[in-house]
Amino acid sequence: MKKSKRQTKLSVNINKIATLRNARGEDLPDLIQVAKDFEKAGCHGITVHPRPDERHIRYRDVKLLKKTVKGEFNIEGYPNQKFINLVLKVKPHQVTLVPDPPEAITSNAGWDTIAHQKFLEEIVSTFKKKNIRVSIFMENHLKKIEMAKKIGCNRIEMYTGPYAKKFLKDKKKAILPYQKAAYFADQIGLEINAGHDLNLINLSYFLKKIPIIKEVSIGHALICDCLYYGIKETTKKYLAQLK
Ligand code: PXP
Repeated sequence: MKKSKRQTKLSVNINKIATLRNARGEDLPDLIQVAKDFEKAGCHGITVHPRPDERHIRYRDVKLLKKTVKGEFNIEGYPNQKFINLVLKVKPHQVTLVPDPPEAITSNAGWDTIAHQKFLEEIVSTFKKKNIRVSIFMENHLKKIEMAKKIGCNRIEMYTGPYAKKFLKDKKKAILPYQKAAYFADQIGLEINAGHDLNLINLSYFLKKIPIIKEVSIGHALICDCLYYGIKETTKKYLAQLK
């Protein structure tokens, strides 16, 4: 395949596979094998989001995945001490800082980098000293994005939940604040990822309008699509959306 400099990367979030496995307490489906199969199908990376209660991804999974994942490995989560220790030990390519409390079902807001400047500065510098790229989950708030740069983050991950909600009603309106925020971030030297509620219906429009996105992190919809199409075909469908 001809490589384009602007190709957005697909990182598959495999949390839902762990949820399914944990339902029976054994090793079915085999999370590590699933990660291998996604990579074999062509996805560029694997994302996991360990939570303190280990209700889906377990800390042990993260260590095993580090040995298995050949492409980009991204660990996302709230940076409490246990998470920080795990990331420093595993040394993934990227850590994504997410502000959700432990009991949250899923991430539903970006960081207030202004209110948490000091806390974040220390954490970002700890990870960067170990050469781990730091991305931070953000909403389209220019001043907070500016602070993400000041704090030392390499990337922002745009929280696309609100885009996905508005997309079905008015996609032109839905994309506008994201375009503005993305080009602002780009101008001040931040790279941009995106994630949450992206799917086969709304993904290609998002990337067509914001082609500078480095990576999309997709879990729920993609894993659901696997029920119908399987891992190989689903990955193919999502990769086609990135072109
Ligand atoms: N990005 C972050 C920071 C997330 O917390 C999640 C959900 O775990 C995703 C992306 C993926 O969202 P979805 O499962 O809706 O594709």
